[in-house]
Amino acid sequence: MVRINPSILAADFANLERDIARISTADFVHVDVMDNHFVPNLTFGLQMVQRLQEVSARPLDVHLMIDDVDRWAPEYARSGASSVTFHAEATEQPVELARALRALGARAGIALKPGTDPEPYLAHLHEFDQVLVMTVEPGFGGQGFMHSTMPTVTRVREAITAGATDVWLQVDGGIDLHSITVARDAGADTFVAGSAVFRADDPTAQVELLRAAATGHRP
Ligand code: DX5
Ligand code: ZN
Repeated sequence: MVRINPSILAADFANLERDIARISTADFVHVDVMDNHFVPNLTFGLQMVQRLQEVSARPLDVHLMIDDVDRWAPEYARSGASSVTFHAEATEQPVELARALRALGARAGIALKPGTDPEPYLAHLHEFDQVLVMTVEPGFGGQGFMHSTMPTVTRVREAITAGATDVWLQVDGGIDLHSITVARDAGADTFVAGSAVFRADDPTAQVELLRAAATGHRP
Protein backbone atom coordinates (compact mmCIF):
# COMPACT_ATOMS: atom_id res chain seq x y z
CA MET A 1 0.00 0.00 0.00
CA VAL A 2 1.20 3.47 -0.91
CA ARG A 3 0.87 6.49 1.38
CA ILE A 4 1.25 10.14 0.32
CA ASN A 5 2.06 12.57 3.14
CA PRO A 6 2.31 16.21 2.00
CA SER A 7 4.75 18.35 3.98
CA ILE A 8 3.31 21.64 5.19
CA LEU A 9 6.83 23.08 5.17
CA ALA A 10 5.86 24.17 1.65
CA ALA A 11 2.43 25.50 2.68
CA ASP A 12 1.55 29.12 3.50
CA PHE A 13 2.48 29.51 7.18
CA ALA A 14 -0.09 32.30 7.53
CA ASN A 15 -2.84 29.99 6.25
CA LEU A 16 -2.02 26.52 7.53
CA GLU A 17 -5.61 25.53 8.35
CA ARG A 18 -6.68 26.46 4.82
CA ASP A 19 -3.74 24.64 3.25
CA ILE A 20 -4.29 21.48 5.31
CA ALA A 21 -7.88 21.50 4.07
CA ARG A 22 -6.50 21.57 0.50
CA ILE A 23 -4.91 18.13 0.91
CA SER A 24 -7.99 16.26 2.05
CA THR A 25 -7.01 13.01 0.32
CA ALA A 26 -3.58 12.84 1.96
CA ASP A 27 -2.89 9.86 4.18
CA PHE A 28 -1.08 11.95 6.81
CA VAL A 29 -0.09 15.60 7.13
CA HIS A 30 3.72 15.68 7.43
CA VAL A 31 4.87 18.27 9.98
CA ASP A 32 8.57 19.20 9.99
CA VAL A 33 9.70 20.30 13.45
CA MET A 34 13.13 22.01 13.33
CA ASP A 35 15.05 23.54 16.24
CA ASN A 36 17.79 25.52 14.45
CA HIS A 37 20.30 23.21 16.13
CA PHE A 38 19.94 19.68 14.77
CA VAL A 39 19.34 21.40 11.43
CA PRO A 40 20.09 25.04 10.49
CA ASN A 41 16.43 26.05 10.24
CA LEU A 42 13.55 26.78 12.60
CA THR A 43 9.88 25.91 12.16
CA PHE A 44 7.21 24.79 14.63
CA GLY A 45 7.19 23.65 18.23
CA LEU A 46 4.91 21.64 20.44
CA GLN A 47 2.17 24.24 20.91
CA MET A 48 1.91 24.78 17.18
CA VAL A 49 1.68 21.06 16.49
CA GLN A 50 -1.03 20.68 19.13
CA ARG A 51 -3.07 23.37 17.41
CA LEU A 52 -2.50 21.88 13.94
CA GLN A 53 -3.78 18.57 15.30
CA GLU A 54 -7.01 20.29 16.33
CA VAL A 55 -7.70 21.77 12.91
CA SER A 56 -6.51 18.85 10.75
CA ALA A 57 -8.97 16.26 9.47
CA ARG A 58 -6.02 14.00 8.62
CA PRO A 59 -3.63 12.47 11.19
CA LEU A 60 -0.26 14.12 11.74
CA ASP A 61 3.06 12.53 10.75
CA VAL A 62 5.50 14.53 12.87
CA HIS A 63 9.14 14.57 11.70
CA LEU A 64 11.40 15.81 14.48
CA MET A 65 14.61 17.42 13.23
CA ILE A 66 15.63 18.41 16.75
CA ASP A 67 18.13 17.51 19.45
CA ASP A 68 17.08 16.17 22.82
CA VAL A 69 14.47 13.82 21.37
CA ASP A 70 14.51 11.65 24.48
CA ARG A 71 12.90 14.57 26.27
CA TRP A 72 10.73 16.03 23.51
CA ALA A 73 9.50 13.19 21.28
CA PRO A 74 7.17 11.76 23.96
CA GLU A 75 5.60 15.21 24.34
CA TYR A 76 4.52 15.13 20.70
CA ALA A 77 3.02 11.66 21.22
CA ARG A 78 1.18 12.93 24.33
CA SER A 79 -0.20 15.82 22.33
CA GLY A 80 -1.96 13.35 20.04
CA ALA A 81 0.31 13.05 16.99
CA SER A 82 -0.47 9.76 15.25
CA SER A 83 3.12 9.24 14.16
CA VAL A 84 6.31 10.62 15.70
CA THR A 85 9.61 10.16 13.85
CA PHE A 86 12.90 11.11 15.51
CA HIS A 87 16.39 11.07 14.01
CA ALA A 88 18.69 8.17 14.83
CA GLU A 89 21.54 10.69 15.01
CA ALA A 90 19.81 12.54 17.87
CA THR A 91 19.57 9.75 20.47
CA GLU A 92 21.74 7.05 22.04
CA GLN A 93 18.68 4.95 22.86
CA PRO A 94 16.42 4.66 19.81
CA VAL A 95 14.75 1.41 20.86
CA GLU A 96 13.85 2.70 24.32
CA LEU A 97 12.47 5.89 22.82
CA ALA A 98 10.40 3.98 20.25
CA ARG A 99 8.94 1.86 23.05
CA ALA A 100 8.02 5.01 24.96
CA LEU A 101 6.26 6.47 21.90
CA ARG A 102 4.30 3.27 21.31
CA ALA A 103 3.31 3.15 24.97
CA LEU A 104 1.84 6.63 24.51
CA GLY A 105 -0.23 5.39 21.56
CA ALA A 106 1.80 6.85 18.69
CA ARG A 107 3.43 5.13 15.75
CA ALA A 108 7.20 5.25 16.31
CA GLY A 109 9.47 6.26 13.44
CA ILE A 110 13.25 6.43 13.11
CA ALA A 111 14.84 8.73 10.52
CA LEU A 112 18.26 8.42 8.88
CA LYS A 113 20.17 11.28 7.31
CA PRO A 114 21.57 10.52 3.83
CA GLY A 115 25.01 9.61 5.21
CA THR A 116 23.84 7.42 8.11
CA ASP A 117 24.52 3.68 7.93
CA PRO A 118 21.24 1.77 8.44
CA GLU A 119 22.93 -1.46 9.60
CA PRO A 120 22.92 -0.80 13.39
CA TYR A 121 19.13 -0.41 13.32
CA LEU A 122 18.13 -3.32 11.09
CA ALA A 123 18.19 -5.94 13.86
CA HIS A 124 15.61 -3.87 15.77
CA LEU A 125 13.17 -3.08 12.96
CA HIS A 126 10.26 -4.69 14.80
CA GLU A 127 10.61 -1.96 17.44
CA PHE A 128 9.61 0.69 14.88
CA ASP A 129 6.50 1.40 12.83
CA GLN A 130 8.33 3.47 10.24
CA VAL A 131 11.86 4.00 8.91
CA LEU A 132 12.40 7.35 7.19
CA VAL A 133 15.30 7.45 4.76
CA MET A 134 16.04 11.11 4.01
CA THR A 135 16.50 11.73 0.30
CA VAL A 136 17.93 15.23 0.92
CA GLU A 137 19.99 16.65 3.78
CA PRO A 138 17.31 17.60 6.31
CA GLY A 139 16.58 21.26 6.95
CA PHE A 140 15.00 22.77 3.86
CA GLY A 141 12.30 22.06 1.31
CA GLY A 142 12.78 22.40 -2.42
CA GLN A 143 16.09 20.53 -2.68
CA GLY A 144 17.00 17.99 -5.36
CA PHE A 145 16.37 14.27 -4.77
CA MET A 146 19.59 12.40 -3.87
CA HIS A 147 19.78 9.23 -5.95
CA SER A 148 22.76 8.19 -3.81
CA THR A 149 20.33 7.32 -0.98
CA MET A 150 18.56 4.58 -2.96
CA PRO A 151 20.91 1.76 -1.82
CA THR A 152 19.87 2.56 1.77
CA VAL A 153 16.18 2.30 0.81
CA THR A 154 16.84 -1.04 -0.89
CA ARG A 155 18.80 -2.34 2.12
CA VAL A 156 16.07 -1.35 4.58
CA ARG A 157 13.41 -2.93 2.33
CA GLU A 158 15.40 -6.19 2.24
CA ALA A 159 15.57 -6.22 6.02
CA ILE A 160 11.84 -5.49 6.37
CA THR A 161 11.03 -8.33 3.98
CA ALA A 162 13.45 -10.72 5.69
CA GLY A 163 11.99 -9.88 9.09
CA ALA A 164 8.38 -10.09 7.83
CA THR A 165 7.66 -6.97 9.84
CA ASP A 166 5.03 -4.40 8.92
CA VAL A 167 7.29 -1.37 8.95
CA TRP A 168 6.50 1.53 6.64
CA LEU A 169 9.46 2.73 4.59
CA GLN A 170 9.23 6.48 4.09
CA VAL A 171 11.28 8.79 1.86
CA ASP A 172 11.37 12.57 2.28
CA GLY A 173 12.99 15.25 0.14
CA GLY A 174 12.81 16.10 -3.54
CA ILE A 175 9.88 13.74 -4.19
CA ASP A 176 8.03 14.58 -7.43
CA LEU A 177 6.23 12.66 -10.16
CA HIS A 178 9.50 11.21 -11.42
CA SER A 179 11.58 10.60 -8.28
CA ILE A 180 8.61 8.94 -6.57
CA THR A 181 8.87 6.07 -9.07
CA VAL A 182 12.63 5.78 -8.45
CA ALA A 183 12.07 5.58 -4.68
CA ARG A 184 9.16 3.17 -5.14
CA ASP A 185 11.33 0.87 -7.27
CA ALA A 186 13.99 0.94 -4.53
CA GLY A 187 11.38 -0.21 -1.98
CA ALA A 188 9.73 2.86 -0.44
CA ASP A 189 5.98 2.78 0.26
CA THR A 190 5.38 6.08 2.08
CA PHE A 191 6.18 9.37 0.37
CA VAL A 192 6.57 12.88 1.73
CA ALA A 193 6.23 15.69 -0.80
CA GLY A 194 6.27 19.38 0.02
CA SER A 195 6.98 21.55 -3.00
CA ALA A 196 5.49 19.08 -5.46
CA VAL A 197 2.12 19.28 -3.68
CA PHE A 198 1.85 22.88 -2.55
CA ARG A 199 3.29 24.50 -5.65
CA ALA A 200 0.61 22.75 -7.72
CA ASP A 201 -2.55 24.68 -8.63
CA ASP A 202 -4.66 21.89 -7.16
CA PRO A 203 -2.83 20.20 -4.25
CA THR A 204 -5.50 17.50 -3.82
CA ALA A 205 -5.24 16.51 -7.47
CA GLN A 206 -1.46 16.50 -7.16
CA VAL A 207 -1.65 14.10 -4.21
CA GLU A 208 -3.66 11.75 -6.40
CA LEU A 209 -1.21 12.13 -9.31
CA LEU A 210 1.66 11.22 -6.96
CA ARG A 211 -0.32 8.25 -5.66
CA ALA A 212 -1.01 7.12 -9.21
CA ALA A 213 2.67 7.46 -10.15
CA ALA A 214 3.70 5.43 -7.11
CA THR A 215 1.17 2.68 -7.72
CA GLY A 216 1.56 2.68 -11.48
CA HIS A 217 -2.15 3.36 -11.94
CA ARG A 218 -4.06 6.27 -13.39
CA PRO A 219 -6.01 8.37 -10.83
C1 DX5 B 1 13.29 18.55 4.72
C2 DX5 B 1 11.94 18.12 5.23
C3 DX5 B 1 11.01 17.71 4.17
C4 DX5 B 1 10.66 18.80 3.18
C5 DX5 B 1 10.39 18.18 1.87
O1 DX5 B 1 14.18 18.64 5.78
O2 DX5 B 1 12.06 17.03 6.13
O3 DX5 B 1 9.82 17.16 4.72
O4 DX5 B 1 9.54 19.54 3.55
O5 DX5 B 1 10.18 19.19 0.95
P1 DX5 B 1 10.32 18.96 -0.63
O6 DX5 B 1 9.31 17.94 -1.01
O7 DX5 B 1 10.09 20.30 -1.18
O8 DX5 B 1 11.74 18.44 -0.85
ZN1 ZN C 1 10.21 15.92 6.72
